Amino acid sequence: MNQELPPPPVIELIKVSKFYPPDVEALSDISFAIDKGEIVYLTGMSGAGKTTLIRLISRMEKESQGMLDVAGFDLSKLNHRTIHLLRRKIGVAYQDFKLLPNRTVADNIAISMEVVYQKTSVIEARVRNLLEQLNLSKKYDTLTAELSSGEQQRVSIARAAANHPEILLADEPTGNLDAENTARVMSLFYQLNRQGCTLLIATHDKSLFRGHNRRVMELRGGRLLTTGHLFPGTQP
Ligand SMILES: Nc1ncnc2c1ncn2[C@@H]1O[C@H](COP(=O)(O)OP(=O)(O)O)[C@@H](O)[C@H]1O
Ligand SMILES: [Mg+2]
Repeated sequence: MNQELPPPPVIELIKVSKFYPPDVEALSDISFAIDKGEIVYLTGMSGAGKTTLIRLISRMEKESQGMLDVAGFDLSKLNHRTIHLLRRKIGVAYQDFKLLPNRTVADNIAISMEVVYQKTSVIEARVRNLLEQLNLSKKYDTLTAELSSGEQQRVSIARAAANHPEILLADEPTGNLDAENTARVMSLFYQLNRQGCTLLIATHDKSLFRGHNRRVMELRGGRLLTTGHLFPGTQP
C-alpha cells in the first residue's frame, strides 16, 4: 500500500533555551510541535517567557540552545541574506506593535505587501478590507503616531495578516482592546485559519480561550508546563 507520510509540523522546537546575561534564563528546554492549520494559545503570567518565545520563532532573536524549525526552515541555517525567505511566510503582530510612526495606517499595512511585489490594486483592496474588518476604515490616512494604543494594535495585526501568511504569530493581540474589537480581531484570526493559516497566539488573558476547545500551552518561569490540547474544564 502506498501510505503517505503525515506532513511535517510547521513549527517545531526541540530543547530550546534562551539566556540573557548575566543570569536570566528566559526559556528552558522548550520542545513542542504545531501542525499546519492549528490554532494554539500560549499562555502564562507576565514574565513567563511568551514574548521571548515569539521572538525566537520569528527570528527577531537567536536561541541560546536547541533547534527551531519554522515554515520548513532550520532557523540555525538562516543568515541576513536568507532571513527574508522566512519573513515572507510568517506574519508577526508584536506586543510593542513596531509601526512606522510617521507613515499612515494604510502605508504601514501596504509596506508588508509591497516587499513581495503585490499589484497596487491588490494591495489597496486588501488594506481596505482589513481596515473594515478591524473597524479602522476612518483611519486610512491617519499617521500611526496619532492613534490610540488599541488602534495601533489593530494596525499591527492587519499588517501581520496582510500577505495571508502561512503562520501568524500574535503577541498579546487583544491587550489594549475592548470587547467589540477583541471579537473583531478573533474573527479575523479564525477567518485566516479557515484559509489555512497556522496561528500561535500569546496571551495572559485566559478568557480568550476559556470555554473553547482549544490547544493551550502554558509557560511558567520559562518552562513549558503543558503542550496539551484542552484547557482544563472544557469539553471536547
Ligand atoms: N532583552 C532582555 N534582557 C534581559 N532579560 C530579558 C530580556 N527580555 C526578556 N527578559 C526576561 O525574560 C523573562 C521573560 O520575559 P518575556 O518573554 O517578556 O515574558 P512574557 O512575555 O511572558 O511577559 C523575564 O524575566 C524578562 O525580564
Ligand atoms: Mg510578553
